[in-house]
Amino acid sequence: MAHRRLQLAAVLALAAFAVAQARQISHLPDAPAMCPLEMRKNTRWGVATASYQVEGGWNLGGRTPSVWDTFSHAGFIKNNDTGDVACDMYHKYPQDFKLMRELGIKHYRFSFSWNRILPQGGKGTPVNPEGIAFYNSLINEMIANNIRPYATIFHWDLPQVLQDKYQGLIGEEFIADFVNYANVLFENFGDRIRDWMTFNEPWVTCVLQYGQGVFAPGIPMGDEGMYKCGHNLLKAHAKTYELYHKAPQAKLDNATFADAARGKVPQAKLDNATFADAARGKVGIAHNIEYLEPLTHAAALKANNVTCYFLLEFLQVPQAKLDNVTFADAARGKVGIALNIEYLEPLTEAKEDVAAANYGLEKNLGWFADPLFFGDYPASLKSCAKDVLPSFTAEESKLLKGSLDFLGINFYTGKFAKGSTTDKCSVETREQDVNGKDIGPLAESSWLRVVPWSFYKLLKYVQSRYDPKQIIITENGVSAPKEDSMSVQQAIRDDFRVNYYKGYLDYLCKAISEGVKVNTYFAWSFMDNFEWREGYSQRFGINHVDFDSPELTRTTKDSGKFLSKHFFRVGRGGGVGARRPGGRQPTKETPKAAKPAKQQ
Ligand code: GAL
Repeated sequence: MAHRRLQLAAVLALAAFAVAQARQISHLPDAPAMCPLEMRKNTRWGVATASYQVEGGWNLGGRTPSVWDTFSHAGFIKNNDTGDVACDMYHKYPQDFKLMRELGIKHYRFSFSWNRILPQGGKGTPVNPEGIAFYNSLINEMIANNIRPYATIFHWDLPQVLQDKYQGLIGEEFIADFVNYANVLFENFGDRIRDWMTFNEPWVTCVLQYGQGVFAPGIPMGDEGMYKCGHNLLKAHAKTYELYHKAPQAKLDNATFADAARGKVPQAKLDNATFADAARGKVGIAHNIEYLEPLTHAAALKANNVTCYFLLEFLQVPQAKLDNVTFADAARGKVGIALNIEYLEPLTEAKEDVAAANYGLEKNLGWFADPLFFGDYPASLKSCAKDVLPSFTAEESKLLKGSLDFLGINFYTGKFAKGSTTDKCSVETREQDVNGKDIGPLAESSWLRVVPWSFYKLLKYVQSRYDPKQIIITENGVSAPKEDSMSVQQAIRDDFRVNYYKGYLDYLCKAISEGVKVNTYFAWSFMDNFEWREGYSQRFGINHVDFDSPELTRTTKDSGKFLSKHFFRVGRGGGVGARRPGGRQPTKETPKAAKPAKQQ
């Protein structure tokens, strides 16, 4: 009898749980009207974070301080917060990837901590084996959970030693040190990471970190420093792109054919091995192979409209002959950059307001995007900043032009722009229209208003000005007002954020349906984290982090459930290939400069 009662109680409890769950989910809105299921299925939806904001473990595993450690320890952050522990992802990543998996997340953008990889920062200094081991486990755990990694090489946390040595991005030595650091990452993790972003938000780095000095390292360098920073950063980007795409990588000499075939490998690259060798005699392929998804034990290859399936052995046989493939060949990899931009809408139709909105976009986005797409700064910027803007040599221009496989856009908000009839270089931004009406509701962050239509307008602008082959929305999200002073139960009912995502995604889908080439999107952020100068007081997470609990407990917010239901779960998979789960062995010291590419 007691047994029966127990059974009944268990059944009732389960039913109550199911009803509660259903009630919780049922108040979630439908998918945005302009996002048909087919489009949501064809797009990749993921979440983003950055090393200093989530990792913690600031003095563990051989890591030295970054400029953000120094800055936060000096007390420049609200409430004296620091990233010492942050979300402790350094220890908690297995549970975080489990949570991602539960939410159906298959794409994750994260960043490497330079000072964890190269504690002394510069070229010729030792690689930290513990740092390599940490990221190997992190990446392997991600892949084991069927999550595709997207790596940002630099998300603002410069090793302090390089700041001390030559003022960080202000010094020209930065370029060689950055390329060396990128090379270490490509060599150690390039077999599992196919999507690389060199820099996160160069505008923030150069304006807030160096120009105004309100972000770490906190030393204002004025407009001259700001443009010098941008110049060095662009050159470092272009050289990294070149390294990834052009330099042969001797380290790949034990790559498998599968490694090589991940890209559109020209047949000449496989010079001593026929495709029939690769297929172990089962299928002969003539030309132009295009690799599809490496997820299963059979890899699908399409040639001349014939789809052939190869066996697992194909993925595993080391082929010493492949020693002159590039990183890009080996990984079917791509290198891009993540640029931030606020959309600017002319305040009125007056000529000067229209011109100011245009100039504002050129000054903030074109500063970086124009050199990458066209090889030079915008003419408007060259004229307005002529005393402080450096210029590129013909050779540098050539290297810059087209040096990206995709354009990453971090997008949060839009503003009105007001111009001047007497000064073409003046851009005044406003948050109210001519009648004093707000452009949109204010978030917790003073710079962020909810303006969904501005996302659409910005995307149309980007597509028409630059015509990128691929756009990735590398960040999009919002801090909900007063969330930090709420209880966990209140904070997770985040209608404000649900509405933000619903509105922005609606307009993103509209843009996609009109031909804007976005195929991947990352919500910022996977969880509440260290929000730079604001510390933990501004929360952007779709998962709540209880910073008062010793476990730093994560609880999914309604926004997380909304995105999970309509986007993460239905969206495209990652196509990750955990080919060498152990990763490469850490290199003892930083590698020598790459050999020049062999002539074909
Ligand atoms: C971006 C930045 C992120 C995050 C976000 C929210 O500018 O890349 O690290 O802080 O803003 O403010």
